[in-house]
Amino acid sequence: MRSDKVRVAIFPVAGLGTRFLPATKAIPKEMMTVVDKPVLQYVVDEAIEAGIEHFVFVTGRGKSAIEDYFDIQFELESTLRSRNKTVELTALEAILPKAGTTSFTRQQEPLGLGHAVWCARDIVGNEPFAVLLPDMIMKSEKACLAGMVELHAQSGGNVIAVEECAPELAHRYGIVGRGEDIADGFRITGMVEKPPQGTAPSNFFINGRYILQPEIFSILETQERGAGNEIQLTDGLLKLLQKQDFTAYHYRGKTYDTGAKDGFIMANVAFALDRPEIRSLVEADIRSLVHP
Ligand code: G1P
Repeated sequence: MRSDKVRVAIFPVAGLGTRFLPATKAIPKEMMTVVDKPVLQYVVDEAIEAGIEHFVFVTGRGKSAIEDYFDIQFELESTLRSRNKTVELTALEAILPKAGTTSFTRQQEPLGLGHAVWCARDIVGNEPFAVLLPDMIMKSEKACLAGMVELHAQSGGNVIAVEECAPELAHRYGIVGRGEDIADGFRITGMVEKPPQGTAPSNFFINGRYILQPEIFSILETQERGAGNEIQLTDGLLKLLQKQDFTAYHYRGKTYDTGAKDGFIMANVAFALDRPEIRSLVEADIRSLVHP
């Protein structure tokens, strides 16, 4: 019998980051910093808090900085050691994954999120897994994925995190149909990727966190292209919904879409205000900008 524990997480990090050119000409968008950590680190931290043990990065051309980031940087560390920079050294050690707990595979063509997830099939194998979209970083008491893992332990099946959005923004996201309420969420009755204005089945959008059963891989293998002419994960999930249960986890914390300029800037402000060492300076500067 296969394990129900969610041990493995997929991070699709092959996107080109065109919305952040020229910054992303030479660095992956996932390595852009929010305060002093790459965006991707926030998402990996969320996965660690949820008990994830193996981290699968689906990368692409020009993304080698991600692989280097999760490795030892021998010259840097020995220089820091010789200069007694223990705080910096400890910070570097804290983010280093244990040897053998990361995997990197390439999405050779930009065919969409469904295709990116499918590219990790051999690494994940036959067990439930999480998907975290690194554009979305979250700030809440309990990490979004940790809440989902708890819900999954009770409900089994597939769990998708959702949040409410204004109806006029529903066309930007994957939207779920709302069924019977349960603690922390509801049963999902349908799903549609980027519904045309006025056609969304609800105003609950998929926020970029999933716990999925491995049967999705064989569906994605033959999934035809959908919205944006891409192979959409949501379309594959809709097919899986005919065979398996899907539960929505209603996430109630804050989410920042760092793939959009305003979301990226607001993430920086919000996380800076969380840092005791800079909070009062940042707060005073923002006040003087807004009310000169
Ligand atoms: C993807 C998913 C979509 C989800 C969104 C959250 O879309 O396909 O269902 O709502 O992420 O950010 P993308 O942002 O890649 O267009």
